[in-house]
Amino acid sequence: MEYSIAVVKGDGIGPEVIEEAKKVLNRVGERFGHRFEYKELLAGGSAIDQLGLALPSETIEACKNSDSVLLGAVGGPKWDHLPGDKRPEQAILGLRKQLGLFANIRPAILFPELADACPLRRESVEGGLDLIVVRELTGGIYFGEKGYKDTEKGRAAYDVEIYSEKEVERIAKVAFEMARKRRKKLTSVDKANVLESSRLWRSVVNRVGKDYPDVELSHMYIDNAAMQLIREPKQFDVIVTNNMFGDILTDEASMITGSIGMLPSASLAEGNFGLYEPIHGSAPDIAGKDIANPMATILSVAMMLRFTFGLSEEADAVELAVKSVLREGYRTADIMSQGMKKIGTKEAGDRIAKAI
Ligand code: IPM
Ligand code: MG
Repeated sequence: MEYSIAVVKGDGIGPEVIEEAKKVLNRVGERFGHRFEYKELLAGGSAIDQLGLALPSETIEACKNSDSVLLGAVGGPKWDHLPGDKRPEQAILGLRKQLGLFANIRPAILFPELADACPLRRESVEGGLDLIVVRELTGGIYFGEKGYKDTEKGRAAYDVEIYSEKEVERIAKVAFEMARKRRKKLTSVDKANVLESSRLWRSVVNRVGKDYPDVELSHMYIDNAAMQLIREPKQFDVIVTNNMFGDILTDEASMITGSIGMLPSASLAEGNFGLYEPIHGSAPDIAGKDIANPMATILSVAMMLRFTFGLSEEADAVELAVKSVLREGYRTADIMSQGMKKIGTKEAGDRIAKAI
């Protein structure tokens, strides 16, 4: 089969990790008889530098005309002085909105080989950790009305958290479906003791839950969820939450796996279309040094194979290849520990590709 992939390398370590992910994809192509075609596109800081805007319309169009999108990372201190609507982050937010990527799937998996990297007590993660956060990605406070106004107390700024029943319903369905294929436990996270939008969220999730009697649904307030994630992360299977709470919880969840350099993500639209990216940022401080960990991007490619292309055998092969390289004791700097063999970005990509 032939697949077209829009590639946004982005800024900082983006280009380096994307290079390794392509290496792995090409190996998958060789091994399983597929052809992956890449179309390189500009977005983020590099687009600002070359074209004067973060998200060129050509990039949006080309993404829409591809089977899926692979993104490295965007942003960096170089563009920090720009006003909010001109920053590189606008590229990500714009792509999410324009491509209708409403469901952000962020797994937090603790690889047994990396158990030492987990900052929690050993008992809390004994036997491994495997949870998924399903974050609503195109609504809520990120996209609600925002602005400045003059009040009696002087100038003020506001960002509105708003959710329609339809938006909650479709993300809830994605989460229930996911839970159904796993351990059948879904925790919906909100702030229904304070926020009206959360009360609506909770009632819609309950309603959708009636269609999934086999999935055990519970609700948790965001503050408690943040605590429980540290106290006893194994209690979670699938978590569903809004855009902002999901942003925060997924950074927290990544930290308990000890290695933000390992975690992939998928942002899915209605149908099979998706954008795949590591959850880490552009890490400008280590860019160009061949030390970044490409595994999160490589594992994002595995998610692409599984979710958008329906190639689960190929996806398994990529994940197994990552595991086997870890088992052989190879580590990039971010996950290095005593007695292991340190490798760079390129060698990590080479070894993983070879293991497929
Ligand atoms: C993320 C990031 C983005 C977000 C930023 C870069 C806009 O933190 O993907 O989690 O807040 O969604
Ligand atoms: Mg974030």
